Amino acid sequence: MAHPSSAPLTLSAVGPLTGRVRVPGDKSISHRALMFSALAIGTSRIEGLLEGEDVLATAAALRAMGATIVRDAGGWSVDGVGVGGLLQPANALDMGNSGTSTRLLMGLVASHPITATFIGDASLSKRPMGRVIAPLSQMGADFTASPGGRLPLMLRGLCPAIPITYKLPVASAQVKSAVLLAGLNTPGITRVVEPVATRDHSERMLRGFGAEVSVETTPHGKIISITGEAELKPQHIVVPGDPSSAAFLVVAATIVPGSDIVVENVGLNPTRAGLFTALRLMGASIEELDRRDVGGEPVADLRVRHAALTGIEVPPDLAPSMIDEYPVLFVAAAFATGRTIARGAEELRVKESDRIAAMAAALGAVGARVTEIEDGLLIDGTGGDPLPGGATVATLLDHRIAMSMAVAALHCRAGITLDDASPVATSYPAFFDQIAHLRGAAA
Ligand code: S3P
Repeated sequence: MAHPSSAPLTLSAVGPLTGRVRVPGDKSISHRALMFSALAIGTSRIEGLLEGEDVLATAAALRAMGATIVRDAGGWSVDGVGVGGLLQPANALDMGNSGTSTRLLMGLVASHPITATFIGDASLSKRPMGRVIAPLSQMGADFTASPGGRLPLMLRGLCPAIPITYKLPVASAQVKSAVLLAGLNTPGITRVVEPVATRDHSERMLRGFGAEVSVETTPHGKIISITGEAELKPQHIVVPGDPSSAAFLVVAATIVPGSDIVVENVGLNPTRAGLFTALRLMGASIEELDRRDVGGEPVADLRVRHAALTGIEVPPDLAPSMIDEYPVLFVAAAFATGRTIARGAEELRVKESDRIAAMAAALGAVGARVTEIEDGLLIDGTGGDPLPGGATVATLLDHRIAMSMAVAALHCRAGITLDDASPVATSYPAFFDQIAHLRGAAA
């Protein structure tokens, strides 16, 4: 998918954020809703789908493999091909910036009798795919990857594939999901052993579609088993709001004096909500209103008021449940009193950018005191004072770096220029409009 040309953007502080906004649909759940619907027999309906570039890349790839996916007034409808029914795509599958599309779809293709070539943008083409190539090769798929196990790569699926038991060497929901999705069309039982819990949307939603999925908790972690050649039944899915998108608004209201906002419809699956725990440990004021269930996931509206933060040692066991939120946590820490220590987050180095190096450089450029360590950052905060700002920062094709530094700009003396704000469209196209709305409501 061609990325829009780079778009520099300067943001500056204008006072408190107030009012209400509703965050868009969860990206992880949106990818899975499309994929599982595309494998069901019959028509599924999806409400609240995130219409960001990453999810649209998944939709385009599934269409290229035979699914009918249509947007209409009430949401999205998907006519599936049935498990085992994916068709040979005519062209390379362009995954744009999306690691989740790539790794989960590799899992699906691996156990179908088709060959697919996966390509992506400059960021995705640097990311390691060996972590999914290893288990999917054990299941019988054949790969021709670029050096270092990267995109572009060609994958020849095997049908029937071989069921395996795979112990995750890294805490990765994408790897777990790739193996489980390959298991959908594999005779017998495919198992994933997960020593450290990661987001469990695949397990929850596959069950909802009628697959036989069992989860056993053992002293060595969870064992997730899926019984293959599954038959998926079409569903009506309501996608809850994305906590990873809400994170930017929550930190923005926390650091900008006088702010008081409500962020509606925030998914609070415990495998995703680690940032809110960490921020509360720092002293943030985050109140859950109207806790409810949406599409089998816990959801609430969050009332967030400005609060003075204190630096903490971020508990490393929170890492998997806030892995995408570290960049914006670093921003919160830059305004805290004292030192924040974030270790055990080495996975950040292989995200859309090296998020440890990217945030050290960007925060350092706008006057924050940060020290980069191998597996995290040490940040000495301002004690609540604004950062100097007045610099241009590199967003490196990484939506979360762009949005984190946009949040930092809201409490800076001289504003911050993003060298390229366009990556925000991958996960949160409404981000700048929603920030403008919250700033406007204060006027
Ligand atoms: C995701 C899993 C995480 C996360 C990514 C979305 C998913 O990646 O960083 O944004 O939807 O499964 P890893 O599995 O690589 O940790």
